[in-house]
Amino acid sequence: MSGRLIYLDNAATSFPKPREVLDRMLQGYIELGVSPGRGSYDQALEAEDVVHGARKKLAIFFGAPDADRIIFAANATDALNIAFNGLLRPGDHVISTRLEHNSVLRPLYHFREMGWISYDLVHFDGKGFVDPGEIARNIKPNTRMVIVTHASNVLGSVQPVEEIGRVCSERGIPLIIDASQSAGKIPIDMTAWNVSAVAFTGHKALLGPTGIGGLAVRPDLDIKPSRFGGTGVDSRSPIHTVTFPHRLEAGTLNLIGIMGLSAGIDYIMHKGIESIHREEMALLKRLRDGLAGLEHVEMYCAGDLSGHVAVLTANVNGVSPEDAGAILDGDFNIAVRVGLHCAPLVHEDIGTINRGAVRFSPGIFNTPEDIDQAIRAMASMS
Ligand SMILES: Cc1ncc(COP(=O)(O)O)c(C=O)c1O
Repeated sequence: MSGRLIYLDNAATSFPKPREVLDRMLQGYIELGVSPGRGSYDQALEAEDVVHGARKKLAIFFGAPDADRIIFAANATDALNIAFNGLLRPGDHVISTRLEHNSVLRPLYHFREMGWISYDLVHFDGKGFVDPGEIARNIKPNTRMVIVTHASNVLGSVQPVEEIGRVCSERGIPLIIDASQSAGKIPIDMTAWNVSAVAFTGHKALLGPTGIGGLAVRPDLDIKPSRFGGTGVDSRSPIHTVTFPHRLEAGTLNLIGIMGLSAGIDYIMHKGIESIHREEMALLKRLRDGLAGLEHVEMYCAGDLSGHVAVLTANVNGVSPEDAGAILDGDFNIAVRVGLHCAPLVHEDIGTINRGAVRFSPGIFNTPEDIDQAIRAMASMS
């Protein structure tokens, strides 16, 4: 269908990107498209400064104590793999939740299938939240890590990370959070919350391009390198660089991606993360209230949207999510994500594993009119 696209799939990736992000990337490629940290000419040094500046910005953004422990990776999945590979050892036990995305579930499953680890997945309650006490009850002498998604990509519920951090720090167990759905939407303070590492992805609410993400690591968390190669440092040594940030990075960095991510963070800081959250939640509440008036629409964990980010999942009675998505797209030019959203256990627990659901995720460029059109589209399916 032609006409303006109403994009309500920001939980998959944010679109469009702020003009400032695109401009910074284009200008970066024109003026500074060289390899950072690999040469002694002016542009290479300047590129390295850009990378270090981005590390500093991200450290402030996440409340991380040391900018050199902001590790760049391709995305959150990549960052989580770096953490799992660098921390888990045979015999370890891991605690996670049934809210997780496959970027956590599949590595854990893989390590268990290899016979290396065991894990327990904590349930969430009827509103979409895990109980920190339940995490405490699952701790064993060999528990090596707790890994929790900060905000569910299906329900939007924000987990009580601060309380979970308290439980973990009292027992000396590292807490890692998957901030894919929270970074850029709500503040994160890993130091205040006793979080040992934050995995982030650049292309969602951080408003950057795809292909850039990373891991913010607290200095007391010893993650071993699991990828080895050139770092531009100490090239004579056959051993991968042991010092941060190179310890967990290998190969040429995604300079232009880092520039775009850095511009995305500038945009968020300028607009104010609280104000972004307020505006997005006003749109989400408008959607929830509109859909609540439709008898043929069922929503999941959306009764009380406090403690949520702007993600809402629903179904239309008698219409498959695929058909609903096709009507939204074909008749109303609305983009949503249907299916299981790479989080099968959430769908098992809300009773939608066999059919999936329709996910709406407004972003900073949506308007109340976009939401009203989505409500009209859902109303048309009665
Ligand atoms: C909760 C959650 N974790 C991890 C990811 C993976 O992000 P990426 O594909 O950018 O690695 C996503 C993306 O959909 C997500 O929603």
